[in-house]
Amino acid sequence: MTKRVAIFISGSGSNMVALVKSMHSVQFALPTLVLSNKRNACGLIKARNLQIPTVCVEAKKVAGCDLKFEEAIQKELENYKIDIICLAGFMRVLSARFVDSWQGKILNIHPSLLPKYKGLNTHERVLEKHEELTGCTVHEVTRELDCGRILGQATVPIFPDDSVESIKSRVLEKEHILYPKTLEQFCLGRSGLIIM
Ligand code: GRF
Repeated sequence: MTKRVAIFISGSGSNMVALVKSMHSVQFALPTLVLSNKRNACGLIKARNLQIPTVCVEAKKVAGCDLKFEEAIQKELENYKIDIICLAGFMRVLSARFVDSWQGKILNIHPSLLPKYKGLNTHERVLEKHEELTGCTVHEVTRELDCGRILGQATVPIFPDDSVESIKSRVLEKEHILYPKTLEQFCLGRSGLIIM
């Protein structure tokens, strides 16, 4: 059965574009909705250009748990009969209640080789630690931040003259391949770990 996929963004939406394009002309998934928590997210324009319905739900509270915000999101997800949520640069932590109710149906992409470097500013920390490798991880979303089951991982080298920006763009390039591949396997119910 075709899975109806919602993609949550907050910013540029480059992973969203890669995901949407990967679902063109396949049977297993349909890019159904792009949801942003930021009205000015560039990704919203990109989604509209790709003819994907968009919705913006902004939180009232700057941080912490905002149940009204999540209720509004939930309503949209029901409206569009969503089966799977892909977080793609969505800069808001979802509550345990929300995550539990979507258990096994939310994926996230994180710009590090989890379980290393959970949280923000991964590339800065990788550089500070003089790592030789970094990469990105697609994982299931659970209550604990960046801790869910790992579904796919791609590695990139770090070179002596690298900056945060150069690492970021090298990792992002891999994200755009890894996320669609992992989503495909996930939709098809294949449980193997993807390593690139
Ligand atoms: C990516 O690096 C992703 O790993 C992280 O946020 C960034 C989103 O980039 N979660 P984009 O909005 O997909 O371009």
